[in-house]
Amino acid sequence: METRAVYPGSFDPVTNGHIDLIQRSAALFDKLIVAVLSNRGKTPLFSAEERAEMLEEVVRDLKNVSVTSFDGLLVDFAEKIGASVIVRGIRAVSDYEYELQMALMNRRLSSKVETVFMLPAESYSFLSSKLVKEIAQLGGSIRGFVPADVEKRLCSKLRIK
Ligand code: PNS
Repeated sequence: METRAVYPGSFDPVTNGHIDLIQRSAALFDKLIVAVLSNRGKTPLFSAEERAEMLEEVVRDLKNVSVTSFDGLLVDFAEKIGASVIVRGIRAVSDYEYELQMALMNRRLSSKVETVFMLPAESYSFLSSKLVKEIAQLGGSIRGFVPADVEKRLCSKLRIK
C-alpha cells in the first residue's frame, strides 16, 4: 500500500532547509503533500497563496510531491487526504520540546497518524524563516538561505533593492 505523508508548516517563506527536508522525505515516502497553514493567529508576511506558489516552484521537478494549504486541525486534514505520516523537521535540541508536545498531542487526537522527525543537513541547522525575514529586513544578504525566486519576492515585499 502507498504511504502518503504530509509535511505541514507556515513556510513564511520556504527556506533551503525546508527544501532539503522535502527532498529527503520525497525519497522516503510514496507521496508527499506539503501543506501550508493558512489560518493563523499571528499575521504572516506572505499570504497562504503566495507561500504555496513559492513552494510549487521548488517542488516542480519532484514528481511525487504536491503543495496545498489547510486550516483547522492538522490530524483532521491528514486523515482527509489519506496521509498516515506527519513529517516534521528537527534542527536542534531546542526544537525538540515543542515538536514532542505537538507530536504527542496529535497522537492523542488521532491514532491513525504517526509523526516522523527528520533531520535537515547540518548546514541548515541554524536556518529559519524568521531569521531570514529579519536579516532581509535589516539589509543583510539572504543568498544561499532561500531560492532565488523567494529572495526576489522577499526583497520586493519588504521594498528593498
Ligand atoms: O512551521 P510551523 O509554524 O512550525 O508549523 C506549525 C504547524 C502548522 C505544524 C502547527 O501550527 C499545526 O499543526 N497547526 C494546525 C492546527 C493544529 O492541528 N493544532 C494542534 C497541534 S497539536
